[in-house]
Amino acid sequence: MERNRDIVEKVKETLRAWLAEAKKMEAHIINEIPAQSTTSHPGMNTASGETSHRDYTTIKPTSRGYEEPRNQVEPSPPKKIAQKEGDTAKLEDVITAAIVAEKPNVKWEDVAGLEGAKRALQEAVVLPIKYPHLFVGLRTPWKGILLYGPPGTGKTFLAKACASETNGTFFSVSASDLMSKWVGESEKLIKTLFKMARQKTPAIIFIDELDSLLSSRSEAENEASRRVKTEFLVQMQGIQNETTGLLVLGATNVPWMLDPAVRRRFEKRIYIPLPDVHTREALIRKQLAKTRHSLTEDYIAELVDRTEGYSCSDINILVRDAAFEPIRKAQNATHFKIIGYTLEGKPVYQPTIPTDPQAREIRMLDIPGSQLQLPPVSVNDFELALMRTKPSVSHEDLKKHEAFTNQFGIEG
Ligand SMILES: Nc1ncnc2c1ncn2[C@@H]1O[C@H](COP(=O)(O)OP(=O)(O)OP(=O)(O)O)[C@@H](O)[C@H]1O
Ligand SMILES: [Mg+2]
Repeated sequence: MERNRDIVEKVKETLRAWLAEAKKMEAHIINEIPAQSTTSHPGMNTASGETSHRDYTTIKPTSRGYEEPRNQVEPSPPKKIAQKEGDTAKLEDVITAAIVAEKPNVKWEDVAGLEGAKRALQEAVVLPIKYPHLFVGLRTPWKGILLYGPPGTGKTFLAKACASETNGTFFSVSASDLMSKWVGESEKLIKTLFKMARQKTPAIIFIDELDSLLSSRSEAENEASRRVKTEFLVQMQGIQNETTGLLVLGATNVPWMLDPAVRRRFEKRIYIPLPDVHTREALIRKQLAKTRHSLTEDYIAELVDRTEGYSCSDINILVRDAAFEPIRKAQNATHFKIIGYTLEGKPVYQPTIPTDPQAREIRMLDIPGSQLQLPPVSVNDFELALMRTKPSVSHEDLKKHEAFTNQFGIEG
């Protein structure tokens, strides 16, 4: 009983905050649109109607709901009553103004493993844009692709590779941002997003963290999120029936939370699993190449075995943590030894144990920058890092992903 009352109070509080935020936004829109609509943005269609290629467009609502207008002219006096239609148009302007251009720089070869997923994405994204005449009739390109799998396995990373490796326009939106900052307006934002993407085909709309936008109905579902879902389904239906080069790419780490109707709109569902042996080896070697180390081939093989169950980002964290160990060693060292000389003939120091016959008692901060060299990353450093860094994906979650794959997905 007591708990229920608490929950009701919390919901009420949240609703009040949303309402206040919406009112603020309305006031801003009415006040500031004339200045806003004159602002042009990189990555957007220009007045000349030219479509620039290799655009990457991220929709980033700011905490105030939209970007600070640049070169703002005198604000026009507030208009008391705004027509409903006019409001929508103005909102679209605000949304347009909230778009910033940014191009990621991720190459296909930066993504370790996931050969199947890469091939599927190339087939769906790159080839139809490059060779449109091949993708006709039965071979109409995929319109909806879902990347799902445990966290840190490269879903967002793959989408970024798609963005950098294709010539189409890439619209990227994080669903959790959409829901938290555009409460009540999210469905209009979706509509605008699809409308703009249609004007800039070939285009890809990437919706990250899809689950926070389009999860299946629950008790907590409110009117706003229902409207968002409906709008999304309408838009997806629209592109299914068209032949324009528009692809919707979605990513989630809880695919079973998606509404079945939404799931169906993503015709191809690709499982991005935890890295296999080869991927782990590739990742570890790639990371190790960036630093001096004293690991043997045997130990690297052992490391590959022992990181089974780690996600790609867990492995990156592990190697980085080990790579920091020599710094910690130098900071704590009481003794250093001379291991060589600089070009100017000054001694270069490396930390050592006090019992080393060449050891000199000295502290790290007393050694000038150019004269300090860290010891190579060692087996011991990795053992310490392995004790600290544990896999972040649970068995239960993996089971759920496998069950979902058996039922609805394909292996990536
Ligand atoms: N296959 C991979 N190859 C190389 N690096 C990877 C790979 N997967 C992940 N990484 C590294 O891990 C980081 C996190 O990956 P990413 O953000 O793509 O995970 P995600 O699958 O989207 O996770 P989440 O479900 O939590 O959003 C990336 O920035 C990248 O550095
Ligand atoms: Mg992600």
